[in-house]
Amino acid sequence: MHAWWKESIFYQIYPRSFYDSNNDGIGDLEGIIQKLDHLKSLGIDCIWLSPIFPSPHHDFGYDIAEYCAVDPIFGSLDIMDNLIEQASIRNIKIILDGVFNHTSIEHPWFLDSCRNGEKKDWYIWNEKANNWTSVFGGSAWTWHPIRKAHYLHSFAKEQPDINWSHPEVQKEILKIMEFWYKRGISGFRLDVFNCYAKDTQHTDNPKRKDILGLIGGFAYSFINQHHVYDRDRPELFPILRDMRKLADQYNAVLIGETLDENLRYNRASEYVGPELLHLTFHFQLLHTKWNPKKIKDSCMQLQKDFQSQCPTIVTSNHDFPRQSKRWGADERKRRIMALLTLTLRGVPFIYYGEEIGLPHISIPRASIQDPVGKKFWPFFSGRDGSRTPMQWSNDKFCGFSKTKPWLPTESKNLCTVHVQEEDPSSILHLYRALITLRKSHPVLHKGALKWLSSSKESLCYERYLEQERIVICINLSSRTITTPVQSGTIIFRIGSADLQTLQPYTAILIS
Ligand code: NOJ
Repeated sequence: MHAWWKESIFYQIYPRSFYDSNNDGIGDLEGIIQKLDHLKSLGIDCIWLSPIFPSPHHDFGYDIAEYCAVDPIFGSLDIMDNLIEQASIRNIKIILDGVFNHTSIEHPWFLDSCRNGEKKDWYIWNEKANNWTSVFGGSAWTWHPIRKAHYLHSFAKEQPDINWSHPEVQKEILKIMEFWYKRGISGFRLDVFNCYAKDTQHTDNPKRKDILGLIGGFAYSFINQHHVYDRDRPELFPILRDMRKLADQYNAVLIGETLDENLRYNRASEYVGPELLHLTFHFQLLHTKWNPKKIKDSCMQLQKDFQSQCPTIVTSNHDFPRQSKRWGADERKRRIMALLTLTLRGVPFIYYGEEIGLPHISIPRASIQDPVGKKFWPFFSGRDGSRTPMQWSNDKFCGFSKTKPWLPTESKNLCTVHVQEEDPSSILHLYRALITLRKSHPVLHKGALKWLSSSKESLCYERYLEQERIVICINLSSRTITTPVQSGTIIFRIGSADLQTLQPYTAILIS
């Protein structure tokens, strides 16, 4: 079986914000079809679509009310089929967001379970709430007046957790996955898959006694306990094996997102393997401040955690502030990140808009949409700032829509695809050039990685495969430094850099 996913470049689309074809202020599937040529010219191989299913949108689609349909705000199954076909004509695959830890409270399974119907055990019920806490704050249990019991929700109360220990539930989820594989979908990104299995005795989680635990005691109860009974359970492994067997029949990929309150993403590698998931996300870089040592350590940690397995390289997504917010306005840093994303050993994930350096937009309190932002403001204003519309042109609303979009675009129209197309020195052209380079050198998408010695400001590594070798030297700092490797032929350069000196935030590739 061809491991196509190992050599692919993934691109995450948040459908509400990509392109609005019917001018209702919300992006849609037809809009994605109309913009496929942008993705083709960028050179990506596979789109990951954040949820497109019918939903009351309490958590913007991560609360699904029907798995085998498309929400009318995004289109229909026919349009989805057309998207799959149009993408495939351009050699682009599509994977969906598999949100299988929980459904919406509006899902018919949950409505039936609440009434003690046939599906009464398809969710997790308890007469007495234990101490488990929700990622979105407070207890993970909510009392249901009709069922006269508490139901479990690891996230918002509108997102009840499915009971994965029920064999019928497992069968049903596999059927849903197969429904989409048969329609031409090439896999799933599995939302918080390490939460599927829970301790069926509902044992209390032990309290944390370290500093984070103490903070959690006051500010955010989710982190005040070790989540040993409500995630990462051994019962998870057979579930993943069954999913993998089915995925293999369709040569589909499974990419897992782990939830980890300790930010120890090295656990992610435990779930990857020939009978488990193909890939898992490792979010270390998303938590790393821009400091040469820290960026360097995170890159090394990521490679170390996955050893002979294949890592993923994730530098942005819909849950974290954009790169421009995390690492500052200096575009040179985003250029270095583009280089790391496309030359480190691992499968690159590009979040829509990062290819043009889309700014993170601050949302005033009254316009916050994200439920988490509404709840935790002013301590945390939510995730809207990284979900704002893609900026296409210099037209009103940056060409995303003709109506006021659901979240604002940048008012000055400075950062748009149109502006960057015209400018050969733009970050968009850099992304394209790096993707072309990665594709034309098997060593960059298949080769092994060896760290070479470097100074405290620089990062230097070699990718090697049979006879081919490429050395990457990067200056991560704001100082001019001596190039760590000074021989060979430069095949690519970012900024003003040569075999003697690397100016601040520049890099060279040598063969
Ligand atoms: C992780 C998703 O990335 C996030 O956006 C969502 O809120 C939670 N899972 C709940 O589904």
